Amino acid sequence: MEYVFLESVDSTNKYAKENIKNLPDKTLVYTHNQTAGRGRLERKWSFCGEDNIYASLVLKPSSDMKEVYSNLTQLLCLVLSQTFEDYGVIPKIKWPNDIQINGKKISGILAEGVIEGWKLEGLVLGFGINLNTKIEILSKINQPATSLNIEIGQDVDKEIFLKKVLEKFCLLYDSFIENGFLLIREDYIRRAGFLNKEVTVRVFDKSITGIAKDITDTGALKLVDNENKEHVLLIGDIL
Ligand code: BTN
Repeated sequence: MEYVFLESVDSTNKYAKENIKNLPDKTLVYTHNQTAGRGRLERKWSFCGEDNIYASLVLKPSSDMKEVYSNLTQLLCLVLSQTFEDYGVIPKIKWPNDIQINGKKISGILAEGVIEGWKLEGLVLGFGINLNTKIEILSKINQPATSLNIEIGQDVDKEIFLKKVLEKFCLLYDSFIENGFLLIREDYIRRAGFLNKEVTVRVFDKSITGIAKDITDTGALKLVDNENKEHVLLIGDIL
């Protein structure tokens, strides 16, 4: 594992993408101060103080795109969940890769690929974690949010948390690339907070409402709508 620490940066994902050619496989780019963090679906990721995690993992598994790479966010999501559990809380996964505790968001993942011509230069898995955020700051976020320090009633050591995440991720990574989502399906489903509930999923500019039935062997969400029609969604966001 290589580390690039930046005192301050607009976005660790943007930095990782712009410098991808010079960053070795398995490099973690992280910062104390992210000034223009980006989230999924063109959203922003707010800066909530420097004791939180703003990081991007650069991966270079091969120079051609494979389907399993799109599941890497789910691997990271599982690993983050397992790390939260080490602190005694019960995280719930919101497909595909958000994590909530008591219905409030605690972390988010933004995956981006850098492709030049036909060549995949690398993947960037950006993650933001509310580790030590003050309640006043969380209340300004435009969706229900929490932070690990609030859930456990004490501050959390950022370096120790990050080390746990990276250790767990590296332990599973090679086997995951080889075996795909199936390797973690059961562990992922055990933490899924949305199964057998009615959900609305946004897919680009459309939304589909139905009962979330299952997660397939390839990590897709199986949903049955009000007309009993089955949808298998590979991308989207539960609202
Ligand atoms: C989301 O839930 O919408 C994803 C949020 C991802 C935020 C992280 S923070 C570090 C990295 N750099 C960014 O600009 N975004 C990701």
